[in-house]
Amino acid sequence: MVQPLIRLSGVSKVYRTGAEEVHALDRVDLTVHAGEFLAVMGSSGSGKTTLMNVLGCLDPPSEGSYVLDGVDVSGYSKREIARVRGRKVGCVFQSFNLIPRTSALRNVELPLVYAGVGDRAERAREALRQVGLGDRMSHAPSQLSGGQQQRVCIARALVADPAILVADEPTGALDGVTGREILTLLVNLHKAGRTIVLITHEKEEARMTDRVIQLRDGRVID
Ligand SMILES: Nc1ncnc2c1ncn2[C@@H]1O[C@H](COP(=O)(O)OP(=O)(O)O)[C@@H](O)[C@H]1O
Ligand SMILES: [Mg+2]
Repeated sequence: MVQPLIRLSGVSKVYRTGAEEVHALDRVDLTVHAGEFLAVMGSSGSGKTTLMNVLGCLDPPSEGSYVLDGVDVSGYSKREIARVRGRKVGCVFQSFNLIPRTSALRNVELPLVYAGVGDRAERAREALRQVGLGDRMSHAPSQLSGGQQQRVCIARALVADPAILVADEPTGALDGVTGREILTLLVNLHKAGRTIVLITHEKEEARMTDRVIQLRDGRVID
C-alpha cells in the first residue's frame, strides 16, 4: 500500500467564544494521496476554512490525528508546526494575504526566510515566472490586479516546493474570467504533479478535479 500524503483521523475542531461552542469540524476522516487533485465543497459555515487551517498547519485540531507526509503533526508544538508549515504545505487564500508595500519578489521570498532556505531571490523569481509574473516582480500588491495578486499568492505557496497545495476559494474574490485563469493555473500545476486540495463552492470548479468531498456542519457527508 502506498502511504497517503494526508491522513486525517477523527479530526474535530471546537471554537469557544464565551459560553458558546461551535463544532466547526466533527470527527473528519480524510485521506489524500500524492498527485491527487481533491475538491472540498460545502455551503458557507460548513467548516471549509477550518479544514484548510488544519490541513495548512495554521491551526491545530482540537481532537484527532493529522499525519502529513508520514509525520503525525497533531501533537506538535507551535514552533515545530511552523517549521512543517513552511516546508510541507503551501496555502492560497481567497483574499491573497500579501504583505502590502512589499514587492512581489519579497512576498514570495518570505516563506524561504522562515524555512531557513538559501538561494531565495532566485527561487522566488523562478516561482513568479512559473505563475506568469516574470515581468511584475518588483511591483507591490497595490500595483497588481486581483488575478496577479492571486498569482503572487500561488507563487509564495509553491516557492518552498511543498508536498501539498491547499487553496481556500482562490477565485472567490475574482471576476469570472480571471477566476477561470487562476483555476487553469491550478489544473496545470496538478498536471505537472502537484497534490492540490481546492476548497470551493463552484460546481464548475469542482468538476475539474479528480475527486469531490462534501462538508456539512463540519462533517464529511460524501
Ligand atoms: N475563529 C472562530 N471563532 C469562533 N467560531 C468560528 C471561528 N472560525 C469559524 N468559526 C465558526 O465555525 C463554523 C465553520 O466556519 P468556516 O470553517 O469558516 O466555514 P466555511 O469556510 O465553510 O464558510 C462557522 O459556524 C463559523 O462561524
Ligand atoms: Mg471559508
